Amino acid sequence: MLEQQESRVKVFVLGGDGFCGWPCAVNLADAGHDVLIVDNLSRRKIDIDLGVESLTPIATIQERLRAWTETGGREIRFSGLDIARDYDLLLDLIRSERPDAVVHFAEQRAAPYSMKSSATKRYTVDNNVNGTHNLLAAIVESGLDVHIVHLGTMGVYGYGSHRGATIPEGYLTVEVPQPDGTRFTEKILHPSDPGSVYHMTKTLDQLLFHYYNKNDGIRITDLHQGIVWGTNIEQTSRDPRLTNRFDYDGDYGTVLNRFLMQAAIGYPLSVHGTGGQTRAFIHIRDSVRCVQLALENPPSSTDKVKIFNQMTESHQVGALAQKVADLTGAAVNYLPNPRKEAVENDLIVDNRCFIELGLKPTTLDDGLLSEVVDVARRWADRCDRSRIPCVSAWTKTQAAAIQAP
Ligand SMILES: NC(=O)c1ccc[n+]([C@@H]2O[C@H](COP(=O)([O-])OP(=O)(O)OC[C@H]3O[C@@H](n4cnc5c(N)ncnc54)[C@H](O)[C@@H]3O)[C@@H](O)[C@H]2O)c1
Repeated sequence: MLEQQESRVKVFVLGGDGFCGWPCAVNLADAGHDVLIVDNLSRRKIDIDLGVESLTPIATIQERLRAWTETGGREIRFSGLDIARDYDLLLDLIRSERPDAVVHFAEQRAAPYSMKSSATKRYTVDNNVNGTHNLLAAIVESGLDVHIVHLGTMGVYGYGSHRGATIPEGYLTVEVPQPDGTRFTEKILHPSDPGSVYHMTKTLDQLLFHYYNKNDGIRITDLHQGIVWGTNIEQTSRDPRLTNRFDYDGDYGTVLNRFLMQAAIGYPLSVHGTGGQTRAFIHIRDSVRCVQLALENPPSSTDKVKIFNQMTESHQVGALAQKVADLTGAAVNYLPNPRKEAVENDLIVDNRCFIELGLKPTTLDDGLLSEVVDVARRWADRCDRSRIPCVSAWTKTQAAAIQAP
């Protein structure tokens, strides 16, 4: 609970029914904040369209909220609107509720899904870019001072070679040569290098934030998050109806959770390409804690967009598979890569902002085995093996490679 009642904030959690949003919402409510979830439940509808379900059985949002209050949780309210389409309803909600802050998770977040077809590419752009822009425009129109905490991705920096350079927290200091031979230094947004349509929407979000912060003084914290692993936090473990989702399918399953589930059911761990791709990771417990830290440490009205790298560890995908294999005895299977991406890349990341704010990271070594046993093995019989392969290809070349016998 908050030590000082006056530091309680009224916060909207956009996308609060999702994998990162649900644990974030209950954690913020538990910390004494006044939480209203806004979600159009599109993620659940995509599951129906794809014919796949979360490995963990998840309750409806209504059951979740009932279970939360029945188990003693501070009330969380829910509004079922589409932030990309229902602009007037969003504006009315902001005007009537007057939130202090909005945590924005409400985007289509799977890179493979965004590359599946022209329909899913267009949906991802329409949904993500309009949703973010509607939120910004509505806050300006409301005239209220609302702090936005947005979930972005480490993928905005790109996964090419950074030539051993450390990726800074959002901004790069550059020297610009002048015609007279002198140079001036400037802090610019780190160049973006998206690797999918989904990642491209996150780089567009960055520009929207830059503009609205400069023009309208909107206070924004943009969290460049790594790949989230794990399932539950203490609060979502209090009752089975509070359980968080666990995606394992080829479109929505993220790499480490897929390895954990594959190990649990005796399916060879699928590494695409050489396994030399390096990615940043963070446990769901730490993701939730970071959002709370960002919310409780807002920028001032004169600050430019505050950017944090929300990750705790970087690993090469092949080495990660080997780690899970060593722990569980699973086999590793190297498959053609459906993504158009560098065969291998480096990724050295500055994440000191959250460490300085007091984050104590959960390491892979602390949590991997319990995740396999408590979650993946427990629900193994709910897994549909036919949905494990990654079938969304980045281009026709990759499509031909993954279809080759
Ligand atoms: N999961 C990860 O590993 C990861 C990593 C980096 C960044 N992120 C970012 O965190 C955010 C949340 O990711 P997640 O894994 O919880 O995804 P998710 O798909 O589980 O949750 C997103 C939620 O937003 C809702 N939503 C989507 N569009 C909406 C709209 N137009 N209006 C209202 N609600 C809408 C969905 O119904 C869903 O409940 C995303 O923006 C994602 O890009 C996630």
